[in-house]
Amino acid sequence: MGEFVVRGRRRLTGTVRVNGAKNAALPIMAATVLASRPVLLHDVPDLRDIRVMSQVLQALGAEVERQGSDIFVDPRTINNYVVPAELMQEMRASIFLLGPLLARLGAAEATQPGGCAIGQRPIDLHLYALGQLGARICDEDGRTVLRAERLRGNEVHFPFPSVGATENVLMAAAMAEGETRIRNAAMEPEIVDLAQFLEKLGATVRGAGTPDIRVTGNPHLGTTEHTIIGDRIEAATFILAVAATGGDIVVQNCMVDHLPGLWTRLKELGVIIEELDAETVRVVSEGVFKPCPVSIATAPYPGFATDLQPQFMSFLLQVPGVHLITERVFENRLGHTIELRRLGAQIVADQRVALIYGGHPLHGTVVTAPDLRAGAALVNAALIAEGETVIRGREVIERGYENLDYRLRSLGADIVAR
Ligand code: UD1
Repeated sequence: MGEFVVRGRRRLTGTVRVNGAKNAALPIMAATVLASRPVLLHDVPDLRDIRVMSQVLQALGAEVERQGSDIFVDPRTINNYVVPAELMQEMRASIFLLGPLLARLGAAEATQPGGCAIGQRPIDLHLYALGQLGARICDEDGRTVLRAERLRGNEVHFPFPSVGATENVLMAAAMAEGETRIRNAAMEPEIVDLAQFLEKLGATVRGAGTPDIRVTGNPHLGTTEHTIIGDRIEAATFILAVAATGGDIVVQNCMVDHLPGLWTRLKELGVIIEELDAETVRVVSEGVFKPCPVSIATAPYPGFATDLQPQFMSFLLQVPGVHLITERVFENRLGHTIELRRLGAQIVADQRVALIYGGHPLHGTVVTAPDLRAGAALVNAALIAEGETVIRGREVIERGYENLDYRLRSLGADIVAR
């Protein structure tokens, strides 16, 4: 198991460019199954989940090649509809293949993804939505098998705006006969990016980014080139790091509109956020805050992102006051509180709610990343802690952050990977 070693209390200065978003790249790679000719994707981060998605596409029969940050997918040779069980276990996002495979080959088969550190994460909403389009679904020895000679547009009304289920049905609907209406759809920017990709392939998608999406399918989708949007969670992780340590950084490829909720809270606390243009932000912070209680509750977009909740908690440790964080999206996503307490953080938490007593000094020790974003929160906390912190489980953090140590070092942080 690799680790990061951080010596904290350095000011961060300089420029960092945000990579393409993992959570946009994964469904878009799955959607290449729908294309009738080779697709070229730009700005795809080099992360483990992306490599697993490439392996899944290859196992289905596609040709996949990476050159720098470009990925080329030739889907013409896809002839297998079974997502290999070992790759399904490696990465939950393999579930994205169900919709596109069903639309293209009339069948899809996968094992159920397991639960994970942050909650159970069932796939009932994915199956409900594909069922509405005509899929017959059965369970055969722990494998979920979907079949449909042809998919027909229909109304899909989600009881909860699941990001993944919205993406899955969008992809299936892009090739289905007629119109699909998705009500209470998730509104995340990654869904808008996927919708734009599907439009470029030849489907008609209206309303992506709102709760009411209408898709008119096209059985003869073509091909396109596409640049993945910047990763808003990665951007915010860097921004929260400099807000807490103090410093002055420029963040490039940061979609300013994709982080509602974060800007207002940081500005209220005295952090200076300067929009240099629509994709570049300068963040200046003293790293010293007046007492001010802060309260946030995570929610689907445009609410406060659950993927930022752990990093925001680390930041609040630097702000004097009693703060409240409520996790509403996942049932078990406060595991980092135990690790943060090892660093000296004063936090009282149950599974959903945490009270954070901010403004107390942190001291370095050995901690372990329980999951990806919690691991990023530990790195950010280590950056403000006195002395040396060892963060075990580097691989867990690197699932979402490419070259994190190198990029933080370029901003002046004292961090090494080993
Ligand atoms: C995506 C993101 C993840 C992020 C999450 C919420 C990707 C690859 N991952 O995950 O980083 O944390 O959105 O913003 O894009 N649920 C069900 N049944 C289902 C599906 C979901 O009950 O069939 C529940 C989940 O257990 C969870 C909630 O809905 O409590 C949100 O899940 P969802 O929006 O689907 O998240 P993912 O797409 O898995």
